[in-house]
Formats: sequence, structure tokens, C-alpha cells
Amino acid sequence: MLTSWSDNRFTAAFSLSTPIALAPMALATGGTLAAACARAGAMALVGGGYGDLEWTRREYRTAATLLKGDQACLSRLGCGFISWKLAEDQSALDWLLDQPQKPAAVMLSFGDPAPVARILQSHSIPLICQIQTMAQLPEAIDAGADVIVAQGTEAGGHGMNDLQGRSTFTLVPEIADRLAGQSPDTLLLAAGGVADGRGLAAALMLGADGALVGSRLWATQESLAAEKAKEITRLAAGDDTARSRVFDILRQKNWPEPFDFRAIRNELHRKWEDRVASLEADPVPAVQDYLDGVAKEDYSRAHITVGQAIGLIDDLPPAAEVIAKIDQGARKLLQGRGPAE
Ligand SMILES: Cc1cc2nc3c(=O)[nH]c(=O)nc-3n(C[C@H](O)[C@H](O)[C@H](O)COP(=O)(O)O)c2cc1C
Repeated sequence: MLTSWSDNRFTAAFSLSTPIALAPMALATGGTLAAACARAGAMALVGGGYGDLEWTRREYRTAATLLKGDQACLSRLGCGFISWKLAEDQSALDWLLDQPQKPAAVMLSFGDPAPVARILQSHSIPLICQIQTMAQLPEAIDAGADVIVAQGTEAGGHGMNDLQGRSTFTLVPEIADRLAGQSPDTLLLAAGGVADGRGLAAALMLGADGALVGSRLWATQESLAAEKAKEITRLAAGDDTARSRVFDILRQKNWPEPFDFRAIRNELHRKWEDRVASLEADPVPAVQDYLDGVAKEDYSRAHITVGQAIGLIDDLPPAAEVIAKIDQGARKLLQGRGPAE
């Protein structure tokens, strides 16, 4: 019977007290949220996202300052970046590598991890690679990933499009089996839809060593998401999101195929979701509409980046409460002590 996480490989490898990692959510996972999660015993990855130097520097410093003097918590602090964007501008990563406290890990998603992997190896910084398909696994293993994150299409934010994407429920055990045969020391986290103790327990039962949690920790007091957006999400159901390229076109983000984006399926999304080719051919009027929505905080037009797990979210507590509840719920289930709550 499981009584503690002492035999969990992820907690042991990174000195965590729970097998949870805070997802590096661009513009949402700032320093305050990261510090709260590190204090709660989780791995805390600041949302370096598109590699904006000023943003990353400010938020990473905020976390480091909040955790100052607490070496155990500081050793859980890391950062995540979008690989294809780092290839255009690596200044935020370079800044991070210059910091006196080595990051606990750097997470790379969406693109070839190899070039940055070599740099991280030369600094002895653990690499976390987020992937979405079996086809991407050899690249991550060859890059020397210490941790693979298997991201299902339920996840909020960017991920694999519906044509090629996989659900968390089948992707995690398939990767777990492959790793067991080919790279048994590589750890595995599940991402996409984990928002409570059931999700974490399920991830562990499917063969993962832990879970990377995004949407549930987005909907907390410390997240940098707009309060109005959080409140809309709290009231929404799991059916209320969709994956598409609509918001990437409206945001003019230039995302490469085959990635797209899950967010709340609002009015502007519905207007264009069946006409993506037309939107791409002539985006200007729709972009104006979108930008006006952003300026007015009108979420029938501005996007809210969350995943299907929002159907499991009905409160906006401090992050530490969320982590404790997920952790305790999973322990209870895994110990056969009945339902999570
Ligand atoms: C608001 C938001 C922003 C995100 N930004 C990033 C990002 O910049 N880089 C990244 O690797 N993943 C990003 N993700 C995806 C997460 O890494 C993770 O895969 C996802 O949140 C897990 O699914 P969940 O939202 O159901 O927990 C983002 C997710 C959300 C919700």
C-alpha cells in the first residue's frame, strides 16, 4: 500500500514532495504562481513561452526573490520555452543560464529540442521534453530528455492538431511501455486533463511518474490570467473549449504545422472555425475585431487559453490548496481509501 511518494521516481529525482509539475504557461505562469507551487512541493516551471527576455527575467526573478533563502524550494524552480521560437531568439535562455542558481530543469515544447538540449547538457541542467505523438519520442530520447511529458489533446493551449493528436488516456501508457523497453531511466509525466486527485492517480496508474498541470493551476489566485477570464472559466463546462488555428491566426503568431491551440470556443471562434482558410486569406478585419475584444476585455472575442479540464474547475483558490487537494486525493485513491473527496 502506498503511504508516501518515497518510491516515486519524479519526486525522488527532483526533491519534490508531490509528483506534480506546474506547466510553464506563457503569460500565466509568472513568478508568484511558480513560487507558490515550489513551496507546495511541486516542480515549478516559469512560463518562458515565446522567450520574451524582459518578461522571463522579471517573472523568474520574482520567483527567485520570493523563495530566497529557501534552498529546497529554489531547487524546484525551472522554466519552459517554445522550441521553434527559441530558434529565432535565445536571449531569455541565455539570461537564465547566467543565473547563479541553476534551474531545476528547462522544459522544451513544440519543435526540435536537439540544439538547446546540447546547451543544457553542457550546463548539466535537466531537460524536460513535451511531446504529443509516438513519432516524436525518438527525437526526445535522442536529445537526452530526462523527463518526457506526454501531452494529450485535452490540454489547454498549444498542442498537436486533432488530425495527428492523441488523447492523454492512450498516449501515456503507450509511451510508458516504449520507455520501459528503450529508455527505462527516462521519467514520464502526463499532461492534458489532470485537474484533481483522480487525474493524478489515473496518470500514475497509466504508467506515468507524475503529472504536468496547466489549466487547474491557471485558475488560481496567483496566476497572471485576467480575473474576468478566470471567472468565466470557473463557470464554464468541459464542452466549452475547442482546438483550432483560429486564435493563432488572429494573434498573428505564425505557429508552424501541425500545432494548433485549445481555448474557450467563444463567439469569434465560432464565427471563423468553419472558415479557417478564408480567415487566413484575409485576416485583417477579423484581427481588428479580435484586438478590439482584447482591448475591451470582451471575452466573446478575446481568447481564454484553457483545456477541457475546466469542467472540473469551480473555484479559484490559492495554488497551494489546489496542489494539496490533488495530492491528497490521489494518495487516498491509490491507497484504496475510497473516492478522492
Ligand atoms: C494558459 C496556458 C498556456 C500554455 N502555454 C504553454 C507554453 O508556453 N509552453 C508549453 O510548453 N505549454 C504551454 N501550455 C500547455 C501546458 O504545458 C500543458 O501541456 C497543459 O496545460 C496541460 O493540460 P491541462 O491544461 O489540461 O492541464 C499552456 C497551457 C495553458 C492552459
